[in-house]
Amino acid sequence: TQVTAYRAAIINCLADPNQVGLDGSYDYYEDGVLVVTDGHISDIGSAKEVLARLPVQTQVVEFKDKLLSAGFVDTHIHYPQTEMIASYGEQLLDWLNNYTFPEEGKFSDPEHAKRVARFFLDELLRNGTTTALVFGTVHKASVDAFFTESEQRNMRMIAGKVMMDRNAPDYLLDTPETGYADSKALIERWHNKGRQLYAVTPRFAPTSSEAQLTMAGQLLAEYPDVYLQTHLSENKQEIEWVKSLFPERAGYLDVYDHFGLLGERSVFAHSVHLDQAESERMGETDSIISFCPTSNLFLGSGLLDLPEVEGHGIRVGLGTDVGGGTSFSMLHTISEAYKIQQLQEHKLHPIKALYLATLGGAASLSLDDKIGNLSVGKEADFLVLDLHATPLMDARIANSQHLFEQLFVLMMLGDDRAIAETYIAGHRQYQRERG
Ligand code: GUN
Ligand code: FE
Repeated sequence: TQVTAYRAAIINCLADPNQVGLDGSYDYYEDGVLVVTDGHISDIGSAKEVLARLPVQTQVVEFKDKLLSAGFVDTHIHYPQTEMIASYGEQLLDWLNNYTFPEEGKFSDPEHAKRVARFFLDELLRNGTTTALVFGTVHKASVDAFFTESEQRNMRMIAGKVMMDRNAPDYLLDTPETGYADSKALIERWHNKGRQLYAVTPRFAPTSSEAQLTMAGQLLAEYPDVYLQTHLSENKQEIEWVKSLFPERAGYLDVYDHFGLLGERSVFAHSVHLDQAESERMGETDSIISFCPTSNLFLGSGLLDLPEVEGHGIRVGLGTDVGGGTSFSMLHTISEAYKIQQLQEHKLHPIKALYLATLGGAASLSLDDKIGNLSVGKEADFLVLDLHATPLMDARIANSQHLFEQLFVLMMLGDDRAIAETYIAGHRQYQRERG
């Protein structure tokens, strides 16, 4: 067995502060020790207590002026859109047609897919994201390339092949039959292979026929422990389009509901314009919203009312939605989430924000038994955070007294520069170069 102890300040989320109250929702050790045994967390606590019970010969790695945290969980991102991030000027539907579809067409080439998958996963690590729920393209090989690379890095990733059989260029279309067969083959090859997990991925209602949505429901019925990821109620024009394409359904969510796509492993990106009945139905079915603040602002989509949807019992995770989103950084994503709540006169407490980006994200993916915090028994995916990463952060942190204030400064000013190291299952997979 391999045992290593890491000594630094440690912040560890324990539960949703809205459920248990702020005090019981986290542990903080100003001088803490985290112990990793064979890729899993085996002890955590104050240095005084943990060092006393640690076998004497254990290697102790000490970090000066750093903060350990669980890795970030990004609940919605498109790896094939990495190199089209920051595409100018359009809202959702024109953005898809003018920029996104041509870019995704490049993934018919497996070499291109491999190169972008590598870059993408390295970018996640640079930003401290250790788990993500990821869209591929319509091409089966795009997902093979992705999982091949994520397995090599031993990252816990969920991904799926996009299903789309209409309302997009011919070169990006599958059929109900090929979409089903390719998804099935990928599930058989990758689901639960090492740390990899599969998500059935109809792009969104407008690009799937009824026959294809039926097949998506069929896959979920055959494989009850795979995920479902799609987009929902993002843009006003999109919502009107869905109503005209599915006139017999009560609304956008009802399209997915009709085909059996709701449930406790179903993640709906955006969901910023749900009506009361839709929010209730989401809560009732234990479906999940991925809140994608930078994307919702960049594409001019709308503002998610977090207390409102949480009030309906809907689980929420945070997503970057690269390349509709503008940053891989979950710290930056938190900052924009905070501002979106401010516009609606809601507060987003830094502990709640950290929860959403870590344990809450893991819980939204039903992975909180494996990842999301630093509790004993979890897989050791963790970050070494640098609150002094820039001159401004350093000056502002020196002027902050309380933990909450320091975390808030990290979230408002921090980004990839604040990620000093990223550990995956106990192995360091990223170390920032000294500037
Ligand atoms: N709706 C359908 N496809 C997409 C996509 O690629 N990005 C976003 N943000 N919304 C979508
Ligand atoms: Fe998206």
